[in-house]
Amino acid sequence: MVVLGIESSCDETAAAVVRNGNTLLANVIASQVTVHARYGGVVPEIASRKHIEAIVPVILQALEDAGMGITGIDGIAVTRGPGLIGSLLVGLSAAKALALALRLPMVGVNHLKGHVAAAFLMERPPEFPFIALVVSGGHTTIYRVEGFQRFTILGQTRDDAAGEAFDKAAKLLEIGYPGGVVIDRLAKQGNGKAFSFPRAMRESLDFSFSGLKTSLLTRLKKRGVPFTPDELPDLTASYQEAICDVLVEKTLRAAEMTAAKRVVVCGGVAANSRLRERFYTEAASAGIEVFIPPPVLCTDNAAMIAVVGTHLLKAGRKDGLDLNAVSRWPMAES
Ligand code: KG4
Ligand code: ZN
Repeated sequence: MVVLGIESSCDETAAAVVRNGNTLLANVIASQVTVHARYGGVVPEIASRKHIEAIVPVILQALEDAGMGITGIDGIAVTRGPGLIGSLLVGLSAAKALALALRLPMVGVNHLKGHVAAAFLMERPPEFPFIALVVSGGHTTIYRVEGFQRFTILGQTRDDAAGEAFDKAAKLLEIGYPGGVVIDRLAKQGNGKAFSFPRAMRESLDFSFSGLKTSLLTRLKKRGVPFTPDELPDLTASYQEAICDVLVEKTLRAAEMTAAKRVVVCGGVAANSRLRERFYTEAASAGIEVFIPPPVLCTDNAAMIAVVGTHLLKAGRKDGLDLNAVSRWPMAES
């Protein structure tokens, strides 16, 4: 089965073609990052307008890259939520138009399930059951996953997501956008032990990142002047280390508590080079196998949506043209 995936939940317009839920034939991503950079964050109204401009060329490019016309497609998978409603509606409308015109089955997909499913595009995909850490700009959640439709929450953030912690720090420090990418780069030259930052809720599998952000803000205020370019590597490395510490510690503890032998780390923050390195070394010494998709499949993409869509379509799921976008959509309900 060949599925066309469409994703437009935030600021990336993406289309992909996936065969049998495991083979990537095309993966096109049009990023709006330069448009939103001047505002220091995603402006929803601008995002919707940019999606409208990009959606058709991106879909056509994906079909061309896959070496097939639209007639080679057996079904369409589209992100239904969670995300920005105006943005989601653009992808959803394109999917409905194609489904109607070509009489193809279409299915709405949960974006978070998509992030986890990106692991099935790896050369050696994970077997169920596993622990999944979904760590993105809007979510930081640990799940026990027993099948494509069987997710149980073991822990989640009580306030900010880890991606938000990266983005807000970069905004406070005025070092650029998107924060995660900038901090990842700067921190490579720094010492993660140079500054001390808090690690919250150590005993629990839940997370809290708002205290970390506040502690950076307090440090900045006390100082009165911005950090110099020479200080930024140590500062960002220490801040990043505080985030990595809790993510790695709690995810591996969740695996040990549930006797899981495999861990999947996914979502935009899983593109972070230090987080990847720490998971690979620390999971290995705990006897746990870790699966982290390549960075391009960690940040938003449509290939992961096509993977979930393939499983839903194979199970006979099909949505109608009345399918609506949803801004919030817990995994268990999708
Ligand atoms: O999954 P994603 O692309 O979109 C959402 O579904 O939210 O994740 C975006 C988040 C942003 O907060 C961004 O700063 C973060 O992922 N991110 C990173 C890196 N690349 C993206 N965080 C840390 N290090 C990175 N290399
Ligand atoms: Zn995402």
